[in-house]
Amino acid sequence: MYKIIFKREMAEKTVCHFRIEAPRIARKAKPGQFIVLRANETGERIPLTMAGTDPEAGTIDIIFQVVGKTTALLRTFNVGDSIQDIIGPLGRPTHIENLGTVVCVGGGTGVAVMYPITKAYKEAGNYVIAIIGARTKDLLILEEEMRQASHELRVTTDDGSYGHHGFVTDVLKQILDARKDVKLVVGIGPVPMMKFLSKMTKEYGVKTMVSLNPIMVDATGMCGACRVTVGGKTRFCCVDGPEFDGHEVDYDELIKRQRAYLTDEKISMDRFMASLR
Ligand SMILES: Cc1cc2nc3c(=O)[nH]c(=O)nc-3n(C[C@H](O)[C@H](O)[C@H](O)COP(=O)(O)OP(=O)(O)OC[C@H]3O[C@@H](n4cnc5c(N)ncnc54)[C@H](O)[C@@H]3O)c2cc1C
Ligand code: FES
Repeated sequence: MYKIIFKREMAEKTVCHFRIEAPRIARKAKPGQFIVLRANETGERIPLTMAGTDPEAGTIDIIFQVVGKTTALLRTFNVGDSIQDIIGPLGRPTHIENLGTVVCVGGGTGVAVMYPITKAYKEAGNYVIAIIGARTKDLLILEEEMRQASHELRVTTDDGSYGHHGFVTDVLKQILDARKDVKLVVGIGPVPMMKFLSKMTKEYGVKTMVSLNPIMVDATGMCGACRVTVGGKTRFCCVDGPEFDGHEVDYDELIKRQRAYLTDEKISMDRFMASLR
């Protein structure tokens, strides 16, 4: 059992941050890696990225958006409650090196996944420009943390309620037009955002990494659920990823596979909400 020692709700309670006691995972985890958890004995296994770790305190942080049954159930947990099982760290860590100028682009809850990666690029000596975006001001997360983790922070909202009025890719375009020294763009967020961002950076010839989020089941490379096509080859996101060359990913296939269980997911969520009434 893994005890929750801190909880905060963000983005109008659509996003939840837990700090959890998990000393063995905290000791080994590196930026970009994830865990798979089961909230209770009958729970589904879901993958979540570690938004932070503290090896000395023996804790890991997860930040998740409430999108369906398991994340809605998790949100009902409070400090002192325990999560049934957690396995990790899983996946390949982000390959961090000193490249020069790196732009880290996070959209929606993707900002939580981006946060430890941004910090690591800065600590490795890169000049880091971060761009974070959300639909509206109240849904923006980790602004202060991302400001600390980068050298420059740019903020966008789709409705113009805060920062630049528009998408993260608008600001990325301004940066790519203005500076010729960007060596790497890292993009993490909704799949359509990563698809559009990668199309743009390809035109500028700038290397781009994205972190993919296909449906995962075993997360050990055995079941094939997380299959993605990258550069025309089949890769398993849980063991070969989650980060891949953004210019090589078949995003349309990923979107199709992510939606494979929408009807079942809706039934499951409706049943769970009814059980709360
Ligand atoms: C490597 C990785 C890291 C992730 N990190 C984060 C994170 O840090 N924060 C965050 O908010 N979300 C993250 N996700 C997505 C998260 O796993 C899903 O939102 C979660 O599983 C939804 O479960 P649910 O029961 O609440 O929703 P459901 O109603 O079951 O599903 C809603 C949608 O979530 C996705 N999903 C459902 N089950 C799974 C599954 N077993 N594996 C992957 N996706 C699934 C599907 O696209 C689905 O349509 C990550 C996904 C992956 C693969
Ligand atoms: S989740 Fe089963 S192979 Fe990746």
